Amino acid sequence: MPVLSGRRIGAVAIVATVLVLGAGLRADTGYDLWLRYTPVPDTAVRAAYRQAATAIVVPRGSPTAEVIAAELKRGLTGLLGADVPRVDRPAAAGAIVVGTPSGSPLVAALGWTDALTRLGDEGYVIRSATVAGFPATVVASNGEAGLLYGAFHLLRLIQTRQPLAAADITARPRLARRLLNHWDNLDGSIERGYAGRSFFWPDRVDARVVDYARANASIGINGAVINSVNANPQSLTPPLLEKAALIAGMLRPYRIRVYLAANFAAPKQIGGLTTNDPLDPAVAQWWRAKADEIYKLIPDFGGFVVKANSEGQPGPQDYHRTHADGANVLADALAPHGGIVMWRAFVYNAEVDPDRVKRAYAEFVPLDGTFRANVFAQVKNGPLDFQPREPFHPMFGAMAKTPLMAELQITQEYLGWSTHLAYLAPMWKEFLDADTYARGPGSSVAKVIDGSLDGKRETGIVGVANTGRDANWSGHDLAQANWYAFGRLAWNPDLSAATIADEWIRMTWGDAPEVVATIRSIMLDSRETFVHYTMPLGLHHLIGGDHYAVMPENADARRADWSAIYYHRADAAGIGYDRTRAGSAAVDQYRAPLREWWNDPATTPDELLLWFHHLPWDYRMKSGRTLWDELVLSYRRGAEEAKGLETRWTTLHGKIDEERYQAVLVKLRRQSDEAVAWGDKCIRYFQAARARRP
Ligand code: GCU
Repeated sequence: MPVLSGRRIGAVAIVATVLVLGAGLRADTGYDLWLRYTPVPDTAVRAAYRQAATAIVVPRGSPTAEVIAAELKRGLTGLLGADVPRVDRPAAAGAIVVGTPSGSPLVAALGWTDALTRLGDEGYVIRSATVAGFPATVVASNGEAGLLYGAFHLLRLIQTRQPLAAADITARPRLARRLLNHWDNLDGSIERGYAGRSFFWPDRVDARVVDYARANASIGINGAVINSVNANPQSLTPPLLEKAALIAGMLRPYRIRVYLAANFAAPKQIGGLTTNDPLDPAVAQWWRAKADEIYKLIPDFGGFVVKANSEGQPGPQDYHRTHADGANVLADALAPHGGIVMWRAFVYNAEVDPDRVKRAYAEFVPLDGTFRANVFAQVKNGPLDFQPREPFHPMFGAMAKTPLMAELQITQEYLGWSTHLAYLAPMWKEFLDADTYARGPGSSVAKVIDGSLDGKRETGIVGVANTGRDANWSGHDLAQANWYAFGRLAWNPDLSAATIADEWIRMTWGDAPEVVATIRSIMLDSRETFVHYTMPLGLHHLIGGDHYAVMPENADARRADWSAIYYHRADAAGIGYDRTRAGSAAVDQYRAPLREWWNDPATTPDELLLWFHHLPWDYRMKSGRTLWDELVLSYRRGAEEAKGLETRWTTLHGKIDEERYQAVLVKLRRQSDEAVAWGDKCIRYFQAARARRP
């Protein structure tokens, strides 16, 4: 055996390391998200991709063009394990040609202009064509945003091992505004954030913001509200606006607009006015001047989100004005600049409506048609507050004239923070696919928010972000998938939860079939598992003040509707919240036939039974079991399923990188322990409630 010199030993060691890296077994923090671009492991497949991606052609000039070229270079070089040069025109077969008809003579020559115009500035095609005499793959769009999204789609094709040469893709987003809402406070803390501190505030503008922008662009997110809905009025003062402008500058090449949460009392608090009355001309003038000031700093500023007369925040009702009065004064200030207002409908008032789920509908639906054209009502998916399962919010399908911005929560406030695994795409699909019956059967929530049901032009969706300064961005490595899934569904609400999971896993964990199948099955089961052990049969809000801990005994002294007993109402006679006509009548906010179905326990789905009904413990379920037995079964089942998630994860040992494997395992262990504890505590508590005399 030849003796190796020191240098050669070093070289062998390097090769070995590279091979290990290539197999995806390196230590890994998860920082790269789904944009890992590790080499395609199969050499034959990699060789085919190399032939189909020999050079990158992106017209030079604009900041967006430069980030497209940089991303393609980074992605292709990583995936193909070889440098892919950027050239001005194809000189051989296999170029990736990117451009708009107006910016690229090569694309203009293809004669696709009319078709591209119809796709809009964010739509794109990816198609084989002959360019400058050579076979090429073309990413074309009418606008640079479309080129950016198309370039990421092209990389995704390789990341998910789909053939490039035969690509024939036409895509455009279903929703125009696809936003993240950051509940980041100016001091750097994040409300309901479980993944570290803010990367926007207080004073740092981190390089991480650029990677954040890349990740968002890769899934089509085009806007970010960078401060909390519980808005500090200071956010609209010059130093903070300058900071916002800095962030906007970093996001702009990635086609992400900055939006801000505005505090309705800003005219008084920072403007020195004596009132915030939206009908006072001085107030209107103040907002106009503020808008002008913002647009000088941020010419593509998106607009304001406002939480008004909600949980103690100021609002127009303080002056006996309506939500429309309040929203319109801001809307008028923003309109000349093209900005919008997202006026949140998260309002409740126990003094008027003891059943808080009814309040938003009551306050907003009568105002339909009175909001300015650039106002959205921003409505949470369900009528309570981001529970693991809720019926859809009845405002969807009840406001034919007002654009509705659906608000989802990516951060897992009520779903185990960043400790428990809950892949949320199945929950969001349930919401998007729910039939509102607003215009008869087939009137899904997705059709309400994409404008097609009522012919609305303004469309959008927002997700409360789960990002922070943690190395892996989301606290739980698998929670990254919720960020990814939000973006993909915002682009196309018809995608299935399984398809999205599949894409994400291949890009984030590798494409070995057993890895994909195992992680996919774990993800797809996880939300229902969480529901089984935290809110069986539609029981909700059995938590303590931090919204993590199981606390059925919670009798919050501050407000009844922040407690748990208010919702489960368990006593010797039965359990559940009566929202039928005999109870709070919340069912009547839904359209027929839903309201009839949900008014009757026999036609209410088991999953929502105790959401709408208060029933005796021995109520006979569809299964033939009693309600009590079914409840206990669900708790036990949830705990077993949580254990099952952990057990399935352990089969991945050695097949994925050790660091992320261990990090997830630790979380899944804690989850399965806590799932048992959830059930034990609730069963004990309800057992005692049953025994108590009414
Ligand atoms: C929930 C959450 C609050 C948040 C509020 C909102 O109640 O717990 O932290 O401010 O929703 O959406 O405004």
